[in-house]
Amino acid sequence: LPWNKDFIGNLYKYKGCWYYPNTLQGVLNFEKGFKPQETDIILASFPKSGTTWLKALTIALFERLKNSNSSSDDDLHPLQSDNPHGIVPFFEFNLYLKSSTPDLTKFSSPRVFSTHMPFHTLRLTLKDSPCKIVYVCRNVKDVFVSLWYFRCAHLEKEVDMKSLFESLCEGVGSFGPFWEHVLSYWRGSLEDPKQILFMRYEEMKSEPSAQVKRLAEFLGCPFTEEEEEDGSVDKIVELCSLRNLSGMEVNNSGKTFNTVPYFTFFRKGEVGDFKNHLTPEMENKIDMIIEEKYKGSGLKF
Ligand code: A3P
Repeated sequence: LPWNKDFIGNLYKYKGCWYYPNTLQGVLNFEKGFKPQETDIILASFPKSGTTWLKALTIALFERLKNSNSSSDDDLHPLQSDNPHGIVPFFEFNLYLKSSTPDLTKFSSPRVFSTHMPFHTLRLTLKDSPCKIVYVCRNVKDVFVSLWYFRCAHLEKEVDMKSLFESLCEGVGSFGPFWEHVLSYWRGSLEDPKQILFMRYEEMKSEPSAQVKRLAEFLGCPFTEEEEEDGSVDKIVELCSLRNLSGMEVNNSGKTFNTVPYFTFFRKGEVGDFKNHLTPEMENKIDMIIEEKYKGSGLKF
């Protein structure tokens, strides 16, 4: 590939999607060994679309049910003892990276997992399972900027932004092409809205309480009237805010996949940061690609 430069590395295409070799092995192991349970919940996304936030919200929503059943307020909240990626692992990076038969006994029902695999790949393994999928998508321009910062942080050097941009436009990059990823879940959510909840980072930012309620309802743990009145929704929004999570000690030490420092998952968390980074030409190019790729899908930003 012409993109096999140090900022991209070697990529392999499998079922229309690009993967790094290790990740692809994780996907193959997952396909071989994963047996879904009806109550499973899978949090899915393209990288840098709000995965960490979605994980934190889901953890907090279920944790509040436990708290209302227990008398002890002294226990540390799971979000204070571990990073969201430590609590909700990825199939392909964590659980199935080395084996097709990982020990999943520590997960109690509902088991919550996550993935960056596109839906057309995931669904082959889920078969007819009614398990629930939540997909979070984000404007590709902000995804790109976030990805660039993330890549620079890992490589500990400044990656050439133009080259990364061109590779994204070509659809080449880990879990790319971006638009096929988004469209696979978008179409899936139209086909079966009971199975896939399609969320948008931008809406989570502009109306967090409404989106958290929507998520809770979809996950089968809606807020009670009493909870709505006592401010429980706002408490979860605040607990999972970027400011709060990024200030927690647990998110300032430790790494996921043994190499990625947890703090690099928290940066600015803004909508439209691309305006500070993309030239008008870059914006125009990506706008045209997106318009063409999403044409007729009903998906708009
Ligand atoms: P930015 O780089 O634009 O700041 P992912 O979790 O999928 O890797 O996405 C990371 C992006 O989500 C980063 O975006 C990060 O700052 C943002 N993010 C992480 N936690 C967040 C939170 N609790 N609320 C809002 N945005 C968050």
